[in-house]
Amino acid sequence: MTDQSVGSRRPYRIAVFASGQGSNFQTLIDASREGTLGAEIVLLVCNKPEAPVVERAHRAGVDCFVFERKAYSRREDYEVEIAEELERRGVDLIVLAGYMLLLTPVLVDAYQGRMINIHPSLLPSFPGKDAIGQAWSYGVKVTGVTVHLVDGGMDTGPVIAQKVVEIQQGDTRESLEEKIHAAERDLYPQVVGWFAGGKIRIDGRNITIS
Ligand code: GRF
Repeated sequence: MTDQSVGSRRPYRIAVFASGQGSNFQTLIDASREGTLGAEIVLLVCNKPEAPVVERAHRAGVDCFVFERKAYSRREDYEVEIAEELERRGVDLIVLAGYMLLLTPVLVDAYQGRMINIHPSLLPSFPGKDAIGQAWSYGVKVTGVTVHLVDGGMDTGPVIAQKVVEIQQGDTRESLEEKIHAAERDLYPQVVGWFAGGKIRIDGRNITIS
């Protein structure tokens, strides 16, 4: 059992990993600035130099570790470099937000219980890519957003929190996407705040919030 309720005196530090638009990154930046996150964003890790999220980080004055997958022969090689960057900054929590590379045990093992991901469906339904499209095509009436701990699998880690989104008459694929993203904006800062506040208790797959 991991008890993270032992408070730290310095600000809680997070690193965000993202590969794309960075709307979740922006939400976290905004919450951090407003003082509602309870955490400081000390690093953006991105594998796409041209991704809009990198520009968002520059504008916010957040340090970036930007790399290209093709510059490394093995996944482990860039993850070792990332691990050094995280260590140097004393990162407490890795927050994945649309990071499109598979992780290796280099980071997964080192940050066990300290790495979270947001996924745009109610896991275990619709894991993997294009979860919103999968739910839309399936015709479910209820979907949503899941924040979970990261383990070695694809969207398989213990669930921390979920937020339900209903698909109503008149919704379109686009309106569903907008509802999902709004749910993400609500949920992700809240969960980061729980970690920062030492409120998360992990007991195997059973996670409770105190
Ligand atoms: C989000 O929908 C998130 O759930 C998924 O990837 C997307 C990232 O979007 N993991 P953005 O880059 O934060 O806008």
